[in-house]
Amino acid sequence: MTACIFVSPAEESAGAARADRLHPVDPAAPQIPVTDLGVTRGDGIFEVIGVRSGHPLMLEAHLHRLANSAVMLDLPTLDLEAIRAAVLQVIESDGLLVESSVKVVVTRGVEGTGVPICWVLSSPAEDFRKDRTEGVRVVLLDRGYPHDIAARAPWLLTGAKTLSYAVNKAVLREAARRDADDVIFTSSDGYLLEGPSSNLIAKFGSRIWTPAPAQGILRGTTQAAVFEVFSELGFSTAEVLMMVDQVVDADALWLASSTRLLAPVRAVDGHEIAVDHELSDAVNESLLSGTR
Ligand SMILES: Cc1ncc(COP(=O)(O)O)c(C=O)c1O
Repeated sequence: MTACIFVSPAEESAGAARADRLHPVDPAAPQIPVTDLGVTRGDGIFEVIGVRSGHPLMLEAHLHRLANSAVMLDLPTLDLEAIRAAVLQVIESDGLLVESSVKVVVTRGVEGTGVPICWVLSSPAEDFRKDRTEGVRVVLLDRGYPHDIAARAPWLLTGAKTLSYAVNKAVLREAARRDADDVIFTSSDGYLLEGPSSNLIAKFGSRIWTPAPAQGILRGTTQAAVFEVFSELGFSTAEVLMMVDQVVDADALWLASSTRLLAPVRAVDGHEIAVDHELSDAVNESLLSGTR
């Protein structure tokens, strides 16, 4: 089952009644004009929200990040109330799936209009149980920018969740060619960054680290929730600079993302990494309990 709602996303429409702002449409029918800048230029932003038994996980963090991406792309201020209402409505229309996901897309709209287009689409989640329990094999791939690129060249939009994900998908094909499942990007000056759709989390004894978002990394909603769980379990957490060669010294590594949640990394460039099944299960269970 899928459900789709079009939303008038700009804040100027906030005064209108909800029925005039949310328009349920048939997700199987064509809906987007061929001149939409999201389609022709990948000019827009999105979010993917995990849903467990009808409860959207980390919804406020996703809405906050969507608003932040809109600011970074100079899009109009978003009507988050309308978008939140659409997310809740598609979940309700979808029936109670155990795990599903909701995608929110905002494009710059049809060329020349300056009116953004937004839709909210629910779909059943992929079955990620194997990734969560057995782990994933990753390769390190150079993203080609130094770690301080976000401050030096903010127009590159590193750290925004834009629709331009062709590179993020190309690296997965490169990973498959190297007999791996996923990727950790590295900076051209030797730092560990993030996955193409996940954040890296590393355990060193009682310390849990993630590469600092200031390095042009998307601030992860799952990573933030995972840090809360690790703090509750007595670990110290920090956003740090991590050099590439530190990766093999970690006791455990994970990739954190919405829907898949915490996937242990079991090999980096063919080098085996121990999987901490107990911790992985404990954190995933806490995330799936829907309290965040
Ligand atoms: C580049 C990138 N980094 C990190 C993440 C993880 O973010 P979240 O945990 O909010 O899904 C994503 C999510 O898709 C991403 O695309």
